[in-house]
Amino acid sequence: LQSGLGTSHAKIILIGEHAVVYGYPAIALPLPSVQIQATIRTAKVDQTIHSRYYDGPIQGAIAELSGIRRLIQHLLLHFDAVDQAFDLTIKSQLPAERGMGSSAATAIAIIRCLFDFFKKPLTHQLLLQWANFSEHIIHGNPSGLDAATASAQTPIWFVKAQVPQELKLNVPGFLVIADSGIKGKTGEAVRLVAQHVRDMPNHYRPKLAALGTITTKVKIALAKADIEDLGQLLTAAQTNLQALGVSSNQLDKLCQVALANQALGAKLTGGGQGGCMIAVTKTAAQAQRLSNALQTAGATQTWIQPLSEIHTL
Ligand code: PMV
Repeated sequence: LQSGLGTSHAKIILIGEHAVVYGYPAIALPLPSVQIQATIRTAKVDQTIHSRYYDGPIQGAIAELSGIRRLIQHLLLHFDAVDQAFDLTIKSQLPAERGMGSSAATAIAIIRCLFDFFKKPLTHQLLLQWANFSEHIIHGNPSGLDAATASAQTPIWFVKAQVPQELKLNVPGFLVIADSGIKGKTGEAVRLVAQHVRDMPNHYRPKLAALGTITTKVKIALAKADIEDLGQLLTAAQTNLQALGVSSNQLDKLCQVALANQALGAKLTGGGQGGCMIAVTKTAAQAQRLSNALQTAGATQTWIQPLSEIHTL
């Protein structure tokens, strides 16, 4: 045993967040240009983690890393190597808690890294099982969308508890992603929606159903490469997400800035109440101008992803 390597990438939910928890479909995209890498090598005595948040022995890992610690310890148990001394380094370009799937991507990079280290074959199914195990430790009851997308090479059509389907995406537009600079609160947002649905089902259930319908229409728009339709559907989804109470002032503001700057549509992405928003534009120049406008409006970081480049991974 010398060394091991595992990588993964960020994800963006194009459409269907929150409704996916209630059995409606969602479409998520891998973002290959935003990478995470885990490397491991044999050490003499200790089990040590090096990351941007924590550098030290695995036993003392801070609360934020406790899920990762438990994942590693379970993997070591699985490989019958609980006392294996190692140095594990995690290098990530993903902002944490912004709805870009940082926890699932970290878990996937680590799982791949340890299977590589122990020279054991890793099927996609086994990878997802371990990633979902980790997501349960960290998030309680996730839909599984993050883990599925962080391990996918194509956009996916996702329905809870079903095998994700690969989607072809051949749309000639640009996705602009902006970080609101505020931590997303996925757990709180999911609980809020659950409470709304419990208290006023007649008011809130139709909004989830509407999101489900919009997601199906987005699939059709993507198949027809109709970016105008896609834009309008994203904006319609934002209206429903706002009505569910999962947007925020800053996210609403960034969506308005996007629409005022030639975006064809805009919405929050992920759990909401912070985190990121997305917008689509027709041309690269518009995407660049929009990205600048979003930064002027307070976005702390922006990314531009040509939609046509996602499916060729
Ligand atoms: O905030 P993110 O990117 O982890 O996405 C959460 C998506 C939800 O639909 C709100 C929750 C889930 O588990 O699918």
